[in-house]
Amino acid sequence: MRVLNSIADLRELARRRVPRAIFEYADRGSYDELTLRRNRSDLQAIQFRQRVMRDLSQLSVASTMLGERVTMPLAIAPTGLCGLFYGDGEIHGARAAQAFGIPFCLSTMSICSIEDVRGAVSQPFWFQVYLMRDRGFNQDLIARARAAQCSALMLTVDLQVQGLRRRDPKNGLSIPPRLTLRNALDVATKPAWAARVLLGRRRTFGNLAGRMGNAAGLTTLSQWVASQFNLAVTWKEVEWIRSLWPGKLIVKGVLDAEDARVAAGLGIDALVVSNHGGRQLDGAPSTIAVLPQIVTAAGGRCEVWLDGGVQSGQDMLRALALGAQACLIGKSFLYALAANGAAGVTLALEILRKELEVTMALTGCTDIRGVDAGILSTRVPDAGASG
Ligand code: GLV
Repeated sequence: MRVLNSIADLRELARRRVPRAIFEYADRGSYDELTLRRNRSDLQAIQFRQRVMRDLSQLSVASTMLGERVTMPLAIAPTGLCGLFYGDGEIHGARAAQAFGIPFCLSTMSICSIEDVRGAVSQPFWFQVYLMRDRGFNQDLIARARAAQCSALMLTVDLQVQGLRRRDPKNGLSIPPRLTLRNALDVATKPAWAARVLLGRRRTFGNLAGRMGNAAGLTTLSQWVASQFNLAVTWKEVEWIRSLWPGKLIVKGVLDAEDARVAAGLGIDALVVSNHGGRQLDGAPSTIAVLPQIVTAAGGRCEVWLDGGVQSGQDMLRALALGAQACLIGKSFLYALAANGAAGVTLALEILRKELEVTMALTGCTDIRGVDAGILSTRVPDAGASG
């Protein structure tokens, strides 16, 4: 039995278990993938101070997010198409996250619907929305999230237009996935995936039933995004969403201090520093490079979290040292899900927690809530200065 002890191992297993079109939908970024790579390289460039001879007998990675206790400061980011990585993937992801004691955020672009997930888990999860042209559809999704007792709403603000992920059209990614002459060999070598997903019950967008029109594949899906997502939105829309959703509200997709200043003034509960995992504006800075200035801009008015390139407990600690209160994982989650469903996600969370604990111990830090830049020996590269 292969030993799996890193997110990289889970990524490799995922690569072998799901067809290329699905794997690369998660794995790749937009255009030349400069921002995708920067997310990783900027994180990895940050060095820790090694400290010794500290009392490490009581070490805790437990924290809070939105005032709720979490066993470590991490949430599963909303990612589209989980159910194509593993049959009923959203349910697997939500169950694994809840059993571990961290939040799970369901994407609008999920395969299992809000109601499917609600019926399969015992605790509330979060739901993510975009701003659509059809306000009635937005209202409807939010009402469904409320009826499903979702405990927070996450508004994605960086996808009014979609960055081109060049691999998707080249790979012929389609939703629902189809067996074609071109992918026949690829699918034939992934029989467990084919049995679970290709022959499974849920294979298309669960939340969008009746709203997809004639969209038949992802090329048309990007056209669907282009036709459905509202290009005219401004921060005023956040006030509208606020009026529809009195509960916890998270804004995801801010990468600039000026935007952060505005967002934090709108009475939101948390802000996710995100470049959509390097899938949107290629050439934008990494999330870790802009984190400190965004924390300053938010000025304590809301929590500040980070996603983008988080693939280890070391990465989590780097982000916390630079002022994030928590991190989110998208790609790392999808690799784990594709590798082995709920068990894969649980393993990924265990790996991350162990790495986090050991890294904290070796930096002489025992309480995650007290982590600050004092544990670092080098600072993050300046935004935009890195390769
Ligand atoms: C959707 O948000 C995507 O990045 O594919």
